[in-house]
Amino acid sequence: MLNRSSRTAEHVALFRALETARRRDRVIDDPYAVRFLTGRYRFLARLARVPAARRWLERYLDRRFPGGPRASAVVRTRLIDELVDDALAGADGHGPAVEGGHEPAGGDGRDALAADGGREALAGGGGWDALSTEGGREGLATEGGREALAGGDGRNGLAADGGRDGSGGEEGRDQVGDSGGRDRLGGGRGQVVLLGAGYDSRAYRLVGLRSVRVFEVDHPATQATKRRLVGAAVGAERREQVRFVGVDLMRDDLAGALRQAGFSGEERTVVVWEGVTNYLTADAVDTTLRALAGIAAGGSRIVFTYVDRAALDGSGRYQGVWQDAVRRHGEPWTFGFDPDALPGYLAERGLRLMLDLSARDAADRYLVPLGRHEPAAAFYRIAQAEVR
Ligand SMILES: C[S@@+](CC[C@H](N)C(=O)[O-])C[C@H]1O[C@@H](n2cnc3c(N)ncnc32)[C@H](O)[C@@H]1O
Repeated sequence: MLNRSSRTAEHVALFRALETARRRDRVIDDPYAVRFLTGRYRFLARLARVPAARRWLERYLDRRFPGGPRASAVVRTRLIDELVDDALAGADGHGPAVEGGHEPAGGDGRDALAADGGREALAGGGGWDALSTEGGREGLATEGGREALAGGDGRNGLAADGGRDGSGGEEGRDQVGDSGGRDRLGGGRGQVVLLGAGYDSRAYRLVGLRSVRVFEVDHPATQATKRRLVGAAVGAERREQVRFVGVDLMRDDLAGALRQAGFSGEERTVVVWEGVTNYLTADAVDTTLRALAGIAAGGSRIVFTYVDRAALDGSGRYQGVWQDAVRRHGEPWTFGFDPDALPGYLAERGLRLMLDLSARDAADRYLVPLGRHEPAAAFYRIAQAEVR
């Protein structure tokens, strides 16, 4: 149980800062990452501006922590940025944008995803790992950069017009993720919840988040540090849309805290729950998902990461799991999902799985086209669900 500011959150910020220090072929650009670091981590991030030092540090981290936590964090950040942009793009009509752009010098990493048609939507059970193969991507209907793969019986698949639900499914739900217009977030300004925010800088970095209400929710201990760092690193005009909400997901009432902070149950919402579920109990994950499904308007989206349960069960199915390292920092992994069971688990909680990719898949999209072959984890997964 967390009782002090999260160290693993600092690790992720360091990984983002190292990536940002690259002069070429970077897949994210997070100028706030270094500013959210302190002490020796900030020193290392600054040192990494010297290319040889950065290369040495990256190689050291990749050897010391096998399995690829560094690259996994970077590619998941990129993928989630794009999922958030995609959901928000319909809210006010502006396109996806990141301050300074995502375009890495020397290669257009955004195209690494867009090259095969852009976003994917996966619905239904039994088909999630098809996304990790070329075969899974081909044959998907595309237009406007979106793909849809209807898993299982296809009832939730999105149609090729980049718009309407191919199933002619329920009203309201169809508008989400398919209209490409204002409906996607309910026609209002929309709102974003960064749940277990750590040193996530999206509220200040993604242009689309500057015009929506953003709730940074985190364990009070981590949040106290973050607030201090944000106060020093981010101009007042960049943070006026941000509300900080201290919540211990193991014991506090998330829905009540969000409502009290001004969360609207009418406006559709994008929730980012990145790098957190693996530190909670099964009960806390369950309670959190039910709270979100209960409080958020239909059509809202929850982007979350999780660890494949098989990486935790001692079966040895995955090599290079870095759970010993996080345990040493007092933040052991305590929870994982079985990917095969995820669609059903979510359905029981009023949620529909739209996408489920591994960090390895994301690395294949963003890093490999740039000639980068760093390790990234097949057991670390990024999923997106929709509130029914
Ligand atoms: C690995 S960090 C991820 C931070 C951030 N989302 C990111 O991806 O950079 C884990 C985060 O989970 C938060 N966390 C862990 N246990 C929590 C709890 N019981 N309640 C609320 N947040 C918690 C930590 O405070 C920390 O911010």
